[in-house]
Amino acid sequence: MINWEELKHIHVIRKLEHVLANWFRTEIFFVDERGKVQNYDPLDRQREFKNPVCAALLPHERARELLMGAVAEANEKALASSQPSFVVDGPLGVEKGYVARIAVDGEFLGCVYAYCFQETVASGDAIQRARASLESLGIVGDRVQDALRGLTTLSGNDKKYFFELVELVAQEIVTFHTEITKREERITALSDQLGTRYSYDSMIGKSKPMQEIYSLLDKIKSSESTVLIQGENGTGKELIAKAVHFNSPRKDGAFVTVNCSAFNENLLDSELFGHVRGSFTGAVKDKKGLFEQAHRGTLFLDEIGDMTLSMQVKLLRVLQEGTLIPVGGVEQRKVDVRVLAATNKDLKGMVEEGLFREDLYYRINVINVVVPPLRDRKEDIPILLDHFLVRGCKEKAIPLKTFAKRALEKIYDYTWPGNIRELENEVERLIVLSGDDPRVSADALSPRIRDHGGNAKVQGVRVSGKLKDALEELEKTMIREGLRRTKWNKSRLAKELGISRAGLIMKVEKYGLDKRKITGGRPDGGGQAA
Ligand SMILES: Nc1ncnc2c1ncn2[C@@H]1O[C@H](COP(=O)(O)OP(=O)(O)OP(=O)(O)O)[C@@H](O)[C@H]1O
Ligand SMILES: [Mg+2]
Repeated sequence: MINWEELKHIHVIRKLEHVLANWFRTEIFFVDERGKVQNYDPLDRQREFKNPVCAALLPHERARELLMGAVAEANEKALASSQPSFVVDGPLGVEKGYVARIAVDGEFLGCVYAYCFQETVASGDAIQRARASLESLGIVGDRVQDALRGLTTLSGNDKKYFFELVELVAQEIVTFHTEITKREERITALSDQLGTRYSYDSMIGKSKPMQEIYSLLDKIKSSESTVLIQGENGTGKELIAKAVHFNSPRKDGAFVTVNCSAFNENLLDSELFGHVRGSFTGAVKDKKGLFEQAHRGTLFLDEIGDMTLSMQVKLLRVLQEGTLIPVGGVEQRKVDVRVLAATNKDLKGMVEEGLFREDLYYRINVINVVVPPLRDRKEDIPILLDHFLVRGCKEKAIPLKTFAKRALEKIYDYTWPGNIRELENEVERLIVLSGDDPRVSADALSPRIRDHGGNAKVQGVRVSGKLKDALEELEKTMIREGLRRTKWNKSRLAKELGISRAGLIMKVEKYGLDKRKITGGRPDGGGQAA
């Protein structure tokens, strides 16, 4: 479908309309594929028509309907026609219209209808008949005279130019429609790439690191590779593992989770690989392991960093050979399982210390997802908060609560060592504790959050004396605290403070905040960070 609104503003088309109106005294109508005129609004009484017949017909309802009917009919002709343009008779019998089809890739999208002119000067009889039809439509007096006398007669080169110009309008519409469509496609493609997504499956988050995770998850949708998910406690590793499985070709297979830290070595062995009857005390019958339960599905090895070295060997063998031997068994069994693993430990560091097998590390770390802690993506806090609040209130079937501004500030400032899980639990707790109160106040927050000073707040800034001194003091404190917090990462701090790195370095020198002085000595007077 053509965006007719946008076309109205296109300069070339306006120019052509202008020329056709002023030189040939004809009106141009844009007609859509259903025969509706798109650039004429009967309610627009201001519009003036250079064409005398339009000026006579259009203000009168019945006459207008007659003309619009003729336009729709011409459009039907255009739809059926193999000609790109042609002349049609006008509704009064003396005048003509010129029609140029609009089609893109063989699809009929409407026409341009130019109205009206005559090819030869009309006979007295014809004029008489036209006068009669005008009068029967309720158009009388000077208007009739003007309309019929003002008819443009086109012949020879004039007619040829006129036709060419009308065809040009149709061509320009096609060109711009194609351009606009291309542009829109480009915009959609770009916004798909850059667009902010607020969620992915049940994961919420719009921060840059989350966007990166979403786009990585999109990329690995059809992959069979193992994925290692790393991140602190409660950052959402399990949620990511589920998203990987449920978006993969194995989504109809089982998703089986095993928490490797929950078992001692022997138990984990039989959990994972199963056992045969009598293989140890208590093994009263054959038992299928989780690997076999996850056949054609996904096995999620949570806390893989807690697996002992000898279990790591067994796991590696299954991953490499696709076969396993149950505890106490002799026969190999084939399994088709995709493995996902998660840990909050520094596996790489464990490899270096000899606590994790390097070969297994590389085998599971084919695709690596690092989930940043909540304190590094604070912009996600508001939507997470909202999400948990709405969900919690819905679950309890109570009216939706809101947070007091002060409570929100406190929540925002807190460092959330327990990440999303901690935030989730806090919201849950607040919903319960605030009872019938529709507003959650800061007082209701857990003490650790309520009493947390917030590293973004600087207290003790002087409120008297010269403004310049006070500002410098504040600036110095913010930079000093910022340097500590970012572990002297000046690029990051400069970004946070919204200044250039060079600007930050100059200020660090100005205030004597270089690393040796700070780490060696005590904070030197001025504002005290809470
Ligand atoms: N992005 C998110 N959006 C919404 N809820 C989330 C998000 N991330 C985590 N959660 C919720 O937070 C809780 C903890 O998430 P999950 O269990 O996936 O974290 P984890 O990294 O596996 O934690 P742990 O290291 O403690 O095992 C879950 O209830 C989960 O639903
Ligand atoms: Mg987990």
